[in-house]
Amino acid sequence: MTSQFEYFSAIDAQDSEKLGAVIQQCFGSSPDDWERYHKRIGIENFRLLRQEGQVSAGLAIYHMGQCYGGQIVPMAGIAAVGVAPEYRGKGAAYEILSQTIQELYRQKVPISALYPATQVLYRKVGYEQAGSYCRWELPLPSIQIQARSMTIHRVNTDDRSIFEAIYTRQAQVNNGNLARHQAIWQRILESEKEQAVYAYLIGSGSEPEGYIIFTQERGEKESAIAIRDWAILTAEAAKCIWMFFGNHRSQINKVYWQGSLSNPFLLLLPEQTTKIVWQMIWMLRIIDVPLALSKRGYPTGIEAELHLEVRDNLLEANNGKFSVQVSNGRGEVRPGGQGTFQIDVRGLAPLYTGFLSPRQLQQMGYLKATPGALDTATLLFSGDRPWMADFF
Ligand SMILES: CC(C)(COP(=O)(O)OP(=O)(O)OC[C@H]1O[C@@H](n2cnc3c(N)ncnc32)[C@H](O)[C@@H]1OP(=O)(O)O)[C@@H](O)C(=O)NCCC(=O)NCCS
Repeated sequence: MTSQFEYFSAIDAQDSEKLGAVIQQCFGSSPDDWERYHKRIGIENFRLLRQEGQVSAGLAIYHMGQCYGGQIVPMAGIAAVGVAPEYRGKGAAYEILSQTIQELYRQKVPISALYPATQVLYRKVGYEQAGSYCRWELPLPSIQIQARSMTIHRVNTDDRSIFEAIYTRQAQVNNGNLARHQAIWQRILESEKEQAVYAYLIGSGSEPEGYIIFTQERGEKESAIAIRDWAILTAEAAKCIWMFFGNHRSQINKVYWQGSLSNPFLLLLPEQTTKIVWQMIWMLRIIDVPLALSKRGYPTGIEAELHLEVRDNLLEANNGKFSVQVSNGRGEVRPGGQGTFQIDVRGLAPLYTGFLSPRQLQQMGYLKATPGALDTATLLFSGDRPWMADFF
């Protein structure tokens, strides 16, 4: 079966055009969208499959990072997985994904994440549910917060470093948050179709305590503030932002944003008037087990050793026993050990991110462990629930 597929990581101009046509058809996008998309990501970060001499499938790789336990772990974000309709149902998507995962392994990329249109496909190559991405909405009249102790001032979006510095401080303490690819920053900061992008800093010019970047949408029945991005480092800055939104209430009905399943800024609102209108669960694949385990951070103040035994049907080197010795918030991984915590590479994903606890995974048949190993894993992978604010 595999011999019918040819996998390509170097894409010339002619193939780029053909790949563009496949992706446009798969996602209903325009030639302009493709032009902007492949320029932002870089054509060298696309992969394609040929069958019978034709481009049958493609995908994009965002090389970036994801924060776990206070450390940034290099991560390959997979996007735009598309197979031309006439080649579907014959294993093309499985083939391009498994080839890409093997290539990422050779490149020593520890983990990969994606937003699934179908879990069935991605589970087959070792991805599993691993974190939240929720759309929240808040009616503006319900905010009712007065906070005059801080200033908020408009800035332009040309220089992203000022936002990036604040963003990074917030992201580092939130499991799953990205060390963003520049294409994601561009999408946040650049205006499309002449829509105005508003950016504000909160607090003093020299040491801002937060920022907000948004657009305004006027619908037939309702108008909304659409938050593209925000980071808030203090309670005063959060109150200031809530008041700022509330002051739009004479013309705008609601504000919405994408992010975590729970949000500390909501503590400052008087009532529970926010709601989650939809959510997606993103998936993670552990590409290189020992590398992934040694790159993430662990709770400080815990000295412990976990003895894993991992199974992986796709990547041979991930199979076997590994011991993780954790000390001072970092983990040292060695081959061997007692194998008292047995898990498939797919089950390792929600454990690694902290999306599900070892006991929850055990209940669902995702792992087998001795009581002692279960307790150790519970301590090591404890932390805030993982989430992302960015779709890719
Ligand atoms: C989703 C898509 C990439 C699948 O491509 P494909 O080449 O048909 O998939 P494969 O033949 O390799 O399928 C591999 C496995 O995934 C399953 N699968 C594929 N598409 C599926 C779907 N939409 N829903 C449920 N399962 C699906 C297959 O049944 C197969 O499992 P099996 O071997 O147990 O039967 C293709 O339909 C497509 O391009 N769709 C439009 C774009 C899109 O939605 N991309 C996904 C973005 S995240």
